[in-house]
Amino acid sequence: MAQTAKRIGICVFSGTGNTLKCAKALEAALTERGISVKLHEIADGTETASERDLVICYPIYGFNMPRVMKPFCRNLTGGGNVWFLKTSGEPLRLNDNSSAEMIRILQKKGYAIKGEFHYIMPYNIVFRHTDALASLMLETAEKRISDAAKRIADGEETSIAAPLSAKLVSALCRVEHWFYPRNGRLFRVDPKKCVRCLKCVKNCPTKNITFEDGRFRFGKNCIGCVRCSFNCQTDAIKIGMIDFMRVNGPYDFTRDPGSARLGRYCKKSYERYFADKRD
Ligand SMILES: Cc1cc2nc3c(=O)[nH]c(=O)nc-3n(C[C@H](O)[C@H](O)[C@H](O)COP(=O)(O)O)c2cc1C
Repeated sequence: MAQTAKRIGICVFSGTGNTLKCAKALEAALTERGISVKLHEIADGTETASERDLVICYPIYGFNMPRVMKPFCRNLTGGGNVWFLKTSGEPLRLNDNSSAEMIRILQKKGYAIKGEFHYIMPYNIVFRHTDALASLMLETAEKRISDAAKRIADGEETSIAAPLSAKLVSALCRVEHWFYPRNGRLFRVDPKKCVRCLKCVKNCPTKNITFEDGRFRFGKNCIGCVRCSFNCQTDAIKIGMIDFMRVNGPYDFTRDPGSARLGRYCKKSYERYFADKRD
């Protein structure tokens, strides 16, 4: 019989805030159900959480998890129940295998994998969604998160199934864990645009950016989260080989979700997602 959880740790890595918004909505929904929740923010993966039951939240990068999730999972010792909450920019099934590496690590440590919840949030790379669509994404996620909180509170299992195509694509794309630290060394700051606010230095989760003797230096610990370039107020940071996919500036999530229109890109998948009819 399903058990009711009493104390839960929500562990979240978020590059540009989308996943953190979802994690905070889940924290509020679980708290409303009388569950004691502690939210742990993951930065470079050296953190840990002492609660037995956990919800691990992360954004999908290249059909996989961000690299920091691996050391984070290796640090865990509680051996209780785990759910995943993940966000991504597109609702393709190719994203369905993204938790696989964490599942392998956690199962070896005796954790029971109970399921995962996947929400679509606006792209922080590739191209910009409109603000209205971003608002619709957040509104949709928040509604579904309250249902997720009930299922987690009841200890209910949800399925994690990935088609073979997702397994193959995520295995191939795991090369990005090798790529981002190298690509990070190619990041550059345009001195004509930069206003020396040093937000990028202060906010980098892996402390990979330094500013010394009037020069920015990018080290070898970049995880590709794009927090630096996304939040740069003058759009001064170029992100190496993936610069052509750079998206700059936060979304305005206060727009009317009712005015959201879908573009042509993956239209059918987005329609299925918003109608909650994912296959
Ligand atoms: C390096 C990188 C790779 C990404 N790869 C994918 C992907 O494979 N599939 C996808 O749907 N979205 C992808 N995205 C989009 C993010 O998953 C999405 O915008 C997410 O909500 C960002 O969450 P955050 O704001 O918490 O960092 C990628 C984003 C980045 C920065």
